[in-house]
Amino acid sequence: MKVLHACAELAPLLKTGGLADVTAALPKAELLEGIDVRLIIPGFPAIYAGIPHTDFIAEVNTFAGHVALRYGQYQGVGIYIIDAPYLYDRQGSPYHDNYLNDYHDNYRRFALLGWMACELACGIDPFWRAEIIHAHDWHAGMTCAYLAAKCYPAKAIFTIHNLAFHGMFDASHLRELWIPEHFYQIYGLEFYGQISYLKAGLFYADQITTVSPSYANEITQDYQGYGFEGLLRDRRDNMRFSGILNGVDQTIWHPNTDTHLITHYSSDHITGKVKNKTALQSEVGLPIDKNILLFAVVSRLTYQKGLDLLVDALTTLIEQDGQLVLLGCGESWLEARFRYLAEQYPQHIAIRLGYDEMLAHRIIAGADVMIIPSRFEPCGLTQLYGLAYGTLPLVRFTGGLADTVADCSLENLEQGIANGFVFYECDSRQLSFAIARAFALWRNPILWKKVQHYAMQQDFSWRTIAKAYIALYQHIIDY
Ligand code: ADP
Ligand code: GLC
Repeated sequence: MKVLHACAELAPLLKTGGLADVTAALPKAELLEGIDVRLIIPGFPAIYAGIPHTDFIAEVNTFAGHVALRYGQYQGVGIYIIDAPYLYDRQGSPYHDNYLNDYHDNYRRFALLGWMACELACGIDPFWRAEIIHAHDWHAGMTCAYLAAKCYPAKAIFTIHNLAFHGMFDASHLRELWIPEHFYQIYGLEFYGQISYLKAGLFYADQITTVSPSYANEITQDYQGYGFEGLLRDRRDNMRFSGILNGVDQTIWHPNTDTHLITHYSSDHITGKVKNKTALQSEVGLPIDKNILLFAVVSRLTYQKGLDLLVDALTTLIEQDGQLVLLGCGESWLEARFRYLAEQYPQHIAIRLGYDEMLAHRIIAGADVMIIPSRFEPCGLTQLYGLAYGTLPLVRFTGGLADTVADCSLENLEQGIANGFVFYECDSRQLSFAIARAFALWRNPILWKKVQHYAMQQDFSWRTIAKAYIALYQHIIDY
């Protein structure tokens, strides 16, 4: 079975969020299961920098002119790189400029990703032809439309990592993109008078998945479906849509091998975690004391992540003499609020605004609790990393957070299945109560260690998940 992943990010080379972690981990896990898997990605500077040795495969005539395809290897996975410097040779984010303005030609940049992926099902590489194309998020959604236009030379699977991003563009571009005109309709990629690359994926893929069972359920409801809920319900009822939870790449996120840590540790030798904690307190300038409960946030600072709720709930944390370290970047008003709070309460709050992969590892290892108060969360990876590192997640009950975190309620503690703290409503008072519950458990170190031990033992390895995707690939091949 030859599987091609089509995507716009690949960790650690180019990452704006969890998507990159997944597109790096899943192909590697599938490879270990014996699948012939490769990946296609636009030739962004960060990709060429990480994969300096590439071979020319072919040049093909596209709506964007003659475009070359190159091929290299990264971490054992074969990577096709689309060589179109006039579209992709731009530093920084794959999607927008340094002022956060989306590139005006994104419709061409990401349609080309779809076009070139489709070419790999049509034989552009004489030695390797994709049988399944696994497209990720709207960036790769047009793959499914081009495959449909060519009567499916390969089967298509589309994974929704975040339904909030629709990839909307002016319908006048359709002809320029060599898309058949009749695709512009409600049973096609039309969406409220525009074209949506997300809808191209949702409508034309043979199979759709999203990254947790709860999110799969939520986005079929009116309140979280953004207008796609009808289509998603339809596809679910035809057994074409399901949720598969993401995992943890243990070669990168494991406290016993993580190269960014001061000291390694494991569930059976937890003492090293304390050293990481005091080192972190020292690094970010908080009072050094292993007995103080240390909360952490590593996140994009956006509406989705609900961190405005935390701003209002911080009094509980401060009153109970806790600490917070926050690493994140995003909306400027939220950055300003946290900056102000850190200035007001330097004994309690330390912030680092920006993106820092190594610091993220040190924070997740050094803290006691990860706070993730998301309004919605397709899967969420930081709560999984928290579990692996014995840093108990404190989350809102939504999407993948609901599927992976069980509250330290008395009944869950009794059954031995508690691994964190959960609150339900999008409400800062509820978040405060959850923070208070974390303090209550902290005051009982024996119980804390028990919960921590259970959290660290849980298995979120990609191996099982890769098997689930492979079963789905087989299912659509057989269909
Ligand atoms: P999302 O993809 O919605 O941002 P996830 O929890 O799935 O949320 O993934 C976030 C990923 O990005 C994790 O690997 C997390 O460690 C990382 N991350 C988020 N913000 C930062 C940051 N400021 N610095 C470093 N890593 C970050
Ligand atoms: C998206 C989601 C996040 C998920 C990630 C990887 O960025 O917001 O919840 O974990 O994709 O699938």
